[in-house]
Amino acid sequence: MISCQRHLFSIPPEVAYLNTAYMSPLMHSVVTAIDGGVRRKSTPWTLTIPDFYDSVDHARALFAGLVNAVPDGVAIVPSASYGMETAAKNLSVGPGRRVVMLANQFPSHVYPWQRLVREQGGEVIRVEAANGDTLTGSVLAAIDERCAVAALPNVLWTNGAVIDLAAVRARCDQVGAALVLDLTQSAGAMVTDFAAIRPDFAVVACYKWLLGPYATGFLYAAPHQRDGDPLEEGWVARKDSQDFSGLVNYTDEYAPGAVRYDMGERANFALMPGVVAALQQLTDWGVANIEATLADRNRALSARLTALGLSPTPEAARGPHFIGAGLPKGAPKDLLQKLAQDGVYLSERGGSLRITPHLWNNDEDFDRLVSGLSALL
Ligand SMILES: Cc1ncc(COP(=O)(O)O)c(C=O)c1O
Repeated sequence: MISCQRHLFSIPPEVAYLNTAYMSPLMHSVVTAIDGGVRRKSTPWTLTIPDFYDSVDHARALFAGLVNAVPDGVAIVPSASYGMETAAKNLSVGPGRRVVMLANQFPSHVYPWQRLVREQGGEVIRVEAANGDTLTGSVLAAIDERCAVAALPNVLWTNGAVIDLAAVRARCDQVGAALVLDLTQSAGAMVTDFAAIRPDFAVVACYKWLLGPYATGFLYAAPHQRDGDPLEEGWVARKDSQDFSGLVNYTDEYAPGAVRYDMGERANFALMPGVVAALQQLTDWGVANIEATLADRNRALSARLTALGLSPTPEAARGPHFIGAGLPKGAPKDLLQKLAQDGVYLSERGGSLRITPHLWNNDEDFDRLVSGLSALL
């Protein structure tokens, strides 16, 4: 178990911030790193060629370490949407073929597939947990020989409903489907093993459970997907781009690995040091320890919510870090605003209350949530 890490963040005592699924706060170390990064640009004579490569490659390696992948498979992207667009550009559907996803999936992981089937033919299938079956069971049942792409998260962003991705991978192997994941709501907080899941592509935006700055993210590409088409044809992703004076010796060759999918201006002198600082802290804590700690606290909190008349998703059906709870009938419409007036922050998505604490939360935060809810319900 990891003890409360609130001292690493700037969260006033009167704020109970239980909304990682919306956006994490930045740690002091991340703010300091970003501040240093911004200042580098005010002295451009100190920015040298290695600055275009070193922190980017450091971030790649740290992210790879968090998901049990190799750095060679990791590209730097500005958002989940950018990474997903890259995946969609390199996969095909066509008449009679299907993209299988969840009902109520996050839009950045829906629109690229809708466009692909509009352009190429085929259809999108939206899966809900069938009566009496788990969500994983229903997803597995939907993946048959017609499935070209299984486009899924590890947990659903509205209520934390969990999917067993290793089981989905095994099913995709049987039918020859590609597996494309959006792990923005799970990577960093839930043990994620790419060696077992073997996604074709996986994206993660940094600003939630990776505790990083906004407008940064990663795209993982499997070994057989590292020779595809990038969204941009920038200079830095090409072979030998380090030779700045030779950049007009144009080449058709990309740098090795998934680097070809890197966004333009990926070095991002301001934000990339913050990404590195955040991922270093996650690595030091260890994702398995983060998961165990959040699971333990959420188990206790969930029991208290049930006692108040809410219906949290049962533990076996949700991500350990993520509580989704149905509200009792008659709950006030302005519940979230009222809680926020009392300094308690959470969100509501798709009719479900989203309670997503992290290591900065202390017992007082949980007590304030419970007493706030009990006064309002
Ligand atoms: C599951 C999921 N994916 C991605 C995002 C962010 O997407 P993007 O990086 O495209 O803005 C969010 C934000 O709420 C999300 O919940």
